[in-house]
Amino acid sequence: MQLIYFTQTGQTAKFVHKLGLANRKINPADPFFTLKEPFILLTPTYDEETTSVINDFLEYGDNLKYCLGVIGSGNRNFAQKFIYTAKDICLDYSLPLLYAYEFNGTPQDVKKVKEIVERLDHGNK
Ligand SMILES: Cc1cc2nc3c(=O)[nH]c(=O)nc-3n(C[C@H](O)[C@H](O)[C@H](O)COP(=O)(O)O)c2cc1C
Repeated sequence: MQLIYFTQTGQTAKFVHKLGLANRKINPADPFFTLKEPFILLTPTYDEETTSVINDFLEYGDNLKYCLGVIGSGNRNFAQKFIYTAKDICLDYSLPLLYAYEFNGTPQDVKKVKEIVERLDHGNK
């Protein structure tokens, strides 16, 4: 199981590193890499122009087939627009929204996401 993430200002990277699990960043300069094992996608929330690299990654090779779900991060001050990037990706690619958190996550968020990853990892063995 891998965590594949996009980050613009580093909050998602911080969260991923707190999880201490295998991970790889989607680099906007080259989002075209393939995965051959299940992964979870983590994305912050920005306009589509910024996050279209995630679509590029998901649509490359068989990547979409290996995606088990999406974890969205954002800022609740955006109200109805909270984590809309993750929600849109889930709708567009029929993926489950696994969890939502703000900024670089609280210790509780870390605990919850570790549980989710463990559950999905178990289901894939
Ligand atoms: C220009 C800008 C627009 C944003 N728009 C939204 C938004 O519409 N909804 C939301 O939930 N968060 C929004 N955010 C918050 C970020 O998604 C949030 O801070 C996230 O943790 C940043 O992750 P990153 O540091 O990995 O890029 C926005 C942040 C910025 C700077």
